[in-house]
Amino acid sequence: MIDFCGIELAHPVINASGCFDVLAARACFGEELIERFPFSAYVSKTVTLAPRAGNPPPRLWESAAGMINSIGLPNPGIEGYLDEHLGEYAKLGVPLITNVMGSTAAEFVALLAALEDRSEVAAIELNVSCPNVATGLDIGADPRGLRLLLEELRPLTQKPLIVKLTPNTADVGACASAAEEGGADAVSLINTLRAMALGYGGKPWLGGGSGGLSGPAIRAVALAQVASVAERVAIPIVGMGGVSSGADAAALLEVGALLVAVGTESFRDPAAGARISAELARLFAENAGS
Ligand code: SIN
Repeated sequence: MIDFCGIELAHPVINASGCFDVLAARACFGEELIERFPFSAYVSKTVTLAPRAGNPPPRLWESAAGMINSIGLPNPGIEGYLDEHLGEYAKLGVPLITNVMGSTAAEFVALLAALEDRSEVAAIELNVSCPNVATGLDIGADPRGLRLLLEELRPLTQKPLIVKLTPNTADVGACASAAEEGGADAVSLINTLRAMALGYGGKPWLGGGSGGLSGPAIRAVALAQVASVAERVAIPIVGMGGVSSGADAAALLEVGALLVAVGTESFRDPAAGARISAELARLFAENAGS
């Protein structure tokens, strides 16, 4: 068992927010995928105060060893999430982490208030790092703004607060450290790297103009950023970025992560979570025996 901010988790592999839609996965692959749920906690896609339609299509571009997304956080808003999604997620039998994004501190305050009495929610991840919405990563890339936001939010909830950090900043360690000073219980990183793709006639391919790069292409960046954050903070780190195998997960744990999240690989292989967890367990067993 792993103690993550007071939450007991069976193993260190979770999903990255927005990267394993259990409702869609169940519709496509049947109950079996859900019955033997691969992740030790489930992280929701980002929820905002008001419903969002997301960015215009096209929303995806396959890049060398990765993908660029410009999804734009479509979601039913906090009321829709509580009414339509939370009950389904609660059936998964693992702790639930709800990921939220506010455009202002006041919106984050309202989101926390809406979640506070919901015992189904074990922890809250603050998305201060989405590259696909106008105000998404302004706060996340500014250490002072991040500390002030955390200082305002921390007293408002009993639930652990995880801050999802952006790699699109000069000094991710300073941002992590500011989040910790403000009262964050954990940090998660990396979100996607800002990127773009050109389509016909040299026009941006993605409807949102630019997007976020993920997948194996960013694995080495994630490793370096997790390692540098681990030198700066004492709170737990959820490492992610291009994890496609147990060995990738082990590398992030090696440099200081307590948990590892699987993101883009789940789009390529919906059973990736279970596979990566099994590969990681095998690596642990081999190392224990050596
Ligand atoms: C999106 O929905 O645009 C992706 C979420 C994110 O990068 O935070």
